Amino acid sequence: MRDMAMHIMDIAQNSIYANATAITIEVIENKDDDSYVVIVDDNGGGMSREMVSKVTDPYVTTRTTRKTGLGIPLLKLNAERTGGNFHIHSEEGKGTNVKAEFVFTHPDRLPAGDIAGIIVLLIAANPGIEFKYQHVTNKGKYALCTAEINETLEGVSISEPSVVRFLKEMIKENQQQILIS
Ligand SMILES: Nc1ncnc2c1ncn2[C@@H]1O[C@H](COP(=O)(O)OP(=O)(O)OP(=O)(O)O)[C@@H](O)[C@H]1O
Ligand SMILES: [Mg+2]
Repeated sequence: MRDMAMHIMDIAQNSIYANATAITIEVIENKDDDSYVVIVDDNGGGMSREMVSKVTDPYVTTRTTRKTGLGIPLLKLNAERTGGNFHIHSEEGKGTNVKAEFVFTHPDRLPAGDIAGIIVLLIAANPGIEFKYQHVTNKGKYALCTAEINETLEGVSISEPSVVRFLKEMIKENQQQILIS
């Protein structure tokens, strides 16, 4: 089964494919308004108005290897089946913002999955991209910024296995402190 982490990976891959140099990933869990929101924002090539309106249709894709793009339609479907909603805002030459809102306590709301794992995977595989990750719950907030991490690393690559292991542990520990369920 799919989970939030896999969706985040998919949507962030779109940003990477669109040549983004900065990607922000936000997860906002709010028990008070019963929402679980995933936002991916990038400064990549963006999409035309026409493309944006078509992109939620699984028969539209600019990929040539396969006819159907499924990343966005699947996320939209999964959010909407919980009673949530889905929005894309994109501007050509400026970037794209994808926001999927799930109803937190709906039985079909996907499990989180290994969000720490995919964040670290994205960072390690794309050392040239500036990632910001923020996770907010009713218990608190955790934020990570690769630009800041790179400064403290003083020239050591963020893709270095020991750094990657450290990052994963750090994200997991911090997540555990703010997770509600
Ligand atoms: N962040 C983005 N910036 C620019 N274009 C995007 C972005 N996200 C999606 N697109 C455009 O929308 C299309 C559909 O995206 P979607 O993720 O649904 O499918 P895909 O990436 O083509 O295939 P799949 O995700 O199934 O491997 C992409 O092919 C791309 O042209
Ligand atoms: Mg995709």
